[in-house]
Amino acid sequence: MSLNDAPVGERAPRAGRRAVARRLLMCRPQYFDVTYSINPWMNPEKPTDARTALLQWEQLRELYLSLGHTVEVVEPLSGLPDMVFAANGATVVDGKVLGARFRHRERTAEGPAYLEWFAANGFDELLWPDHINEGEGDFLRVGRRMLAGTGFRTDVRSHAEAQEFFGIPVTGLTLVDPDYYHLDTALAVLSDDEVMYYPEAFSPGSRAVLRELFPDALLATADDAAVFGLNAFSDGLNVLLPQAATGLAARLKERGFHPVGVGLGELLKAGGSVKCCTLVLS
Ligand code: ARG
Repeated sequence: MSLNDAPVGERAPRAGRRAVARRLLMCRPQYFDVTYSINPWMNPEKPTDARTALLQWEQLRELYLSLGHTVEVVEPLSGLPDMVFAANGATVVDGKVLGARFRHRERTAEGPAYLEWFAANGFDELLWPDHINEGEGDFLRVGRRMLAGTGFRTDVRSHAEAQEFFGIPVTGLTLVDPDYYHLDTALAVLSDDEVMYYPEAFSPGSRAVLRELFPDALLATADDAAVFGLNAFSDGLNVLLPQAATGLAARLKERGFHPVGVGLGELLKAGGSVKCCTLVLS
């Protein structure tokens, strides 16, 4: 079959996909709860079950280990129910650590707590930021470029701060839908040059930028986004995503990825899932 015979709308899976072993940082949801509301998913009136949260989190951790990744854990602190969302704890590029400075006072103490973990674990290039940024919730690396979200949490001025500190190009993207308040709820990095995203979560200008940078990107539907399907972690081959995102999983398969559904329903009550629980160290 020649290329021209390929059915319209189908894409040949890219040959030679392979998983890259990553070093990840996670935080056990020991004190998980929804006691305040800082995003539309959080309803403090709805009961949570810390035991279920722990079991679901443990499954994610074991999945990472079974795929050959290394998982470090940072000690959870009581009174910080959102600390399980390790992605927000900092941003790491080439061993350099940009600390996180949270938008809401309910989470401010997490920034120093995470930075302390880095200082105690051999990271010696640490920067306490001038501007608000919520770590890898809003900073996502694609190869040697950084995509940076703003609009709800991370201050646009932190994009320049990150570019200066890391020395890689930072491209700002504006989020417009409060349901998708962090970049990692609207866009997932699949490989060094591929992403998937939900266009409606972005401003028209940012959508145009994404089309320009990633003309071939996998575009998620409103249904994919609503089950948090974009809050995914990819090692270049395996893509861990919420198990309810079945449509997205099918389309990832067409492109030669191995989607792996994960059940993290308890944590979704706080507006987080796979990627939120995962800080990529290297
Ligand atoms: N309840 C947390 C918040 O609103 C959820 C954080 C999710 N983390 C993420 N990387 N998207 O801040």
